Amino acid sequence: MAETDPTEDPAEDPADDLADDPADDLADDRADERAPYDPMPHGPPEVGVGPWPGGRDAWPDEDHHDPRLLAEGDRRNVVDRYRYWRMEAIVADLDTRRHGFHVAIENWQHDFNIGTIVRSANAFLAAEVHVVGNRRWNRRGAMVTDRYQHVRHHPDVPALKDYLGSLDGPDGVPLWGIDNLPGSLPLESADLPRRVCLLFGQEGPGLSEQARSVVDGTFSIAQYGSTRSINASAAAAIAMHAWIRAHAGPPTA
Ligand SMILES: C[S@@+](CC[C@H](N)C(=O)[O-])C[C@H]1O[C@@H](n2cnc3c(N)ncnc32)[C@H](O)[C@@H]1O
Repeated sequence: MAETDPTEDPAEDPADDLADDPADDLADDRADERAPYDPMPHGPPEVGVGPWPGGRDAWPDEDHHDPRLLAEGDRRNVVDRYRYWRMEAIVADLDTRRHGFHVAIENWQHDFNIGTIVRSANAFLAAEVHVVGNRRWNRRGAMVTDRYQHVRHHPDVPALKDYLGSLDGPDGVPLWGIDNLPGSLPLESADLPRRVCLLFGQEGPGLSEQARSVVDGTFSIAQYGSTRSINASAAAAIAMHAWIRAHAGPPTA
């Protein structure tokens, strides 16, 4: 719970805004050039790869390669298969194989977990991420992964529910609340649908009353210790991985 600081003014931090602001793009462009955690104090001085070996004459000619990355090297935090690829080409490739689950998080108090959840959603290849409530969210924990993810804003949970209802035929995509509320069913023994949206609450209040009244059910992650709950982004990673275990095969190389 310590990660949330409701006193912080998000307007002071350009990295916090979903809205298009050229200053954000500039900052993000710079951030996208290097792995955000680079260099680690005791790690290698640089991550990624240098300029394409052999120089310009040896450059591959596929469209997805970015001439600037080929010339200067690729220090981004991307898996090896995407080295030297243009960002748009990576997103297009991810779009061909995104998984059936969506992830949503309520954002009424500027929750710092959202960035971390976006990063996990990228790693597990969620169809989309939905930010419900405030439009602004802190991108830092996302480590630039939001650029490769479809992040959609909804003013409230009924609006999210309407959107999900418009997808995938007459029944739409079901909305599952993930929280250890009284009456929640155990996620461990639930039959996770292939198409589903997993909705998480915030540090402190958890799922809002509105969310609880709109979801198709609530599901809890088993705990055994003394704390009332785990961190929301930890819960999100566990729930996403439950979907992976149920529906995804081994990742392609
Ligand atoms: C830190 S919890 C706060 C609310 C929590 N219900 C409580 O009583 O303290 C914030 C969010 O993390 C997720 N979460 C935390 N622990 C969970 C658990 N054991 N099972 C399912 N979700 C959990 C839920 O999405 C929840 O809304």
